Amino acid sequence: MQTVQETATLRAVIRSWRTQGQSLAFVPTMGNLHEGHLSLLRKAHDCADRVVVSIFVNPTQFDSGEDYARYPRTFEADQASLSGTDCDVLFFPAVETMYPYGLEQSVRVSVPELGGTLEGIYRVGHFDGVSTVVSKLFNLVQPDYAVFGEKDWQQLQIIRRLVEDLSLPIEIAAGPTQREADGLALSSRNRFLNAQQRARAPAMYATLCWMRDNYFSGHTRAVVETAARARLQRAGFELDYIVIRCATDLTEPEEYARTGLIGLAAGHLGSTRLIDNLLFDA
Ligand code: PAF
Repeated sequence: MQTVQETATLRAVIRSWRTQGQSLAFVPTMGNLHEGHLSLLRKAHDCADRVVVSIFVNPTQFDSGEDYARYPRTFEADQASLSGTDCDVLFFPAVETMYPYGLEQSVRVSVPELGGTLEGIYRVGHFDGVSTVVSKLFNLVQPDYAVFGEKDWQQLQIIRRLVEDLSLPIEIAAGPTQREADGLALSSRNRFLNAQQRARAPAMYATLCWMRDNYFSGHTRAVVETAARARLQRAGFELDYIVIRCATDLTEPEEYARTGLIGLAAGHLGSTRLIDNLLFDA
């Protein structure tokens, strides 16, 4: 595996693959890699001859400077865990490389509506930052495939929309959420949970499962959402939302809809914010 910081080097390596007719899959990350990321990498390897992984903690997708500073940066450990995998190039650009005109003056990419609901309400501007950096990374790497985790379901839908609307010749592949044995979705943020919070955290996934079962047993969406909210609050969460939405555009479904649904939740345990989701298969 080659670690590359400069865009000129990245482009040269990719050009040499392309002249050999090789296909390319891309996994963008912010580092602090765990089994969830490694599962995306394996999926990328299934899609294409070559795999590029990026590690870039993107400043424009954090709502406050504090969150950005607090984000775990574990480059050496990440590099070590990637070196035993099918990653061909680890792209590790500097902030100046990704934002040559500075953060304020950067061209912005924005996905309306999809980017403004749910997470977009609680993390204003977050998805503009994600859409912008992913567009930049796509332009640098020019992959045939890009792999994103279902754990960030709203992000996945936004990237799909971005690729479709900007006519980018990239196929988006999705990797299923990886979970601990007790159901907690793997996340870089889990390391911030203390023992008591860690014990409470699986309640989010358990409540999403409970919400699905109750919805399909005939209760209305409003009743189920309200009860799920109370359940998670009792479990110790300071809740942002737990809702049932249409899976692809995240709009509110018709009252008796039974297909194409997803439950999504976000809330805090102490200062750690967790998100999760569950596709409802009728
Ligand atoms: O999902 C993430 O880790 C980030 O949002 C991404 C897609 C790498 C963009 O910074």
